[in-house]
Amino acid sequence: MKPIKVGLLGIGTVGAGTFEVLARNQEEIRRRAGRGIEITMVADLDTDRANRIVGGRAQVVSDARAVIANPDIDIVIELIGGYGIAKQLVLEAIAAGKHVVTANKALLAVHGSEIFTAARAKGVTVAFEAAVAGGVPIIKALREGLTANRIEWIAGIINGTTNFILSEMRDKGLDFAAALKDAQRLGYAEADPTFDIEGVDAAHKVTLMSAIAFGTPVQFDKAHIEGITQLAAQDIKYAEQLGYRIKLLGITKRTPQGIELRVHPTLVPARRLIANVEGAMNAVVVNGDAVGTTLHYGKGAGSEPTASAVIADLVDITRLHTADPEHRVPFLAFHPDAMSDLRVLPMSEVVTSYYLRLRVADEAGVLARVATLMADAGISIDAVLQREADEIGGEGSTQTDLIILTHDTREGTLDAALTKVQALSSVLAPIVRLRKEELA
Ligand code: NDP
Ligand code: HSE
Repeated sequence: MKPIKVGLLGIGTVGAGTFEVLARNQEEIRRRAGRGIEITMVADLDTDRANRIVGGRAQVVSDARAVIANPDIDIVIELIGGYGIAKQLVLEAIAAGKHVVTANKALLAVHGSEIFTAARAKGVTVAFEAAVAGGVPIIKALREGLTANRIEWIAGIINGTTNFILSEMRDKGLDFAAALKDAQRLGYAEADPTFDIEGVDAAHKVTLMSAIAFGTPVQFDKAHIEGITQLAAQDIKYAEQLGYRIKLLGITKRTPQGIELRVHPTLVPARRLIANVEGAMNAVVVNGDAVGTTLHYGKGAGSEPTASAVIADLVDITRLHTADPEHRVPFLAFHPDAMSDLRVLPMSEVVTSYYLRLRVADEAGVLARVATLMADAGISIDAVLQREADEIGGEGSTQTDLIILTHDTREGTLDAALTKVQALSSVLAPIVRLRKEELA
C-alpha cells in the first residue's frame, strides 16, 4: 500500500522531534501501521531553520495554507500552538477533509467543542494524545484502556515546568526565577510561561481529561485555577515536617452534586508514588470503579517524548483511515448523543481537607480560640504543629506559626470560619490555606 502523506505545520521543539522520530523509526512504524507514514511537506515561518532540520527530506514552505491545499496530503499535524492562527488552520484543514493531529491543549480546551463538531460534520478525526501529559498515553488509557470503568476521579501532575521548578527549588535550593529559566532552556515551558506557572496549562489538560472521563463537553471556563507563584518556601518545609509534599495537581472528581474541576498546589502524603514524581516528569492517577487506582507516569514535555504521542496518533489514524467514521473511537470517548450535562461545581461546594498556616501572637489561649471557631463551624482538626517562637522570629520573638491540618470539609464552610479566625486580634497576618488530598 502507498505511504500515507502528512503535512506538518510548525517545526519547533515538538515538530522537529516528530520529524526526526518518524524518520528514524519509519520501518518499525510502517510494520505497525500497515503502511508507511511520510511527512512530505513542512510549513514554518523560519524556513532556513526548517530546511536545516528537514535536510531535503520534505518540501519546506512558509505558508501553512499551501500544505492544507495540497490534495496529496491526508493528515495535517498542527504544532504551532496558541488559539490564533492555529485555530484557523485546524478548522481550514478539517474543512479541506484532512485528519488533524495536534498537541495544542490550549486550543482544544477552549475551542474543542467547535473543532470536534466541525470534524464530525466532515467525517475526519482530530487526535490529541500529545496535548495531555506529553509522552504518557493517558488519552488512550482513558478513552480505550479504561473504557469499562465508571471513572470516579483523576489527579495528575500534568505540567512538567512547574513540577520541575518545585523539584529544583526543594532539592537544589534554586530560586523560582532560575528554575523557570532552566525549564525554558530545556524546552518544557509554553511560549508564554505564565500559562505554566499560573496553572493555566494544567487546567487546559485537566479540562480535556475531565471531558473524556465523564462524557461532558470541554468546560475550561468553569475550571478553578491557582498556580505556584504564591507558594511560600516555608509551606513546602512545614508540609514536609507533617509528612506531605506540595505538588501542582490537576484534579477532576465525580460527586453526586456535579463535577469538581480544579488546579492548585496540593499537599499529598509523601508515601504516595505521585508525591515522588520529580523534575519534568508527569504522573496521572485515575480511579475507576472496576480497576481501582492506576498510575500513568512518564515524560510530560520535551521534543521526542511529545513526538512519541504525536506519532501514536498518526499510526491510529493510518490504521482507521478507511474505517467508517461511526466506527472510530469518539473524540471525547463517549458518543456525541450520549454526552452528559453534569454541572461543574463552584469551589465553595468542593469538599476536601486543608493545610492552614497562621502567624499568631505567642500567647496563652490562641490555639483554643482558633479551635473553638473551627469546631463551631463543624470543622474537624486532624493535626496541629506549633513552632517555637524563637525559630520563627529569633530569640525573644513574640510571634509563632500555627499549622493546622483539617479533615474533609466544604470549602464554603471553611472560608466562612476562616473569616472569623482572621478577625482574632492574635492572628497577625493573612492566613495561608492550601488544599490537601489523601488520594487513597
Ligand atoms: P515551538 O514554539 O517550539 O514551535 C512552534 C513552531 O511553529 C515554531 O517553529 C514557529 O516558528 C512555528 N510557527 C509559528 N507560526 C507559524 C505559522 N503561521 N505557520 C507555520 N509555522 C508557524 O512550540 P512547541 O513545539 O514547544 O509546541 C508546539 C505545540 O505543542 C504547542 O501547542 C504546545 O503547547 C504543545 N506542546 C508542547 C510540548 C513541549 O514540550 N514543548 C509538550 C506538549 C505539547 P517561529 O519560531 O519562527 O515563530
Ligand atoms: N509547558 C508544558 C509543560 C509542556 O511544562 O508541561 C507540555 O505540555
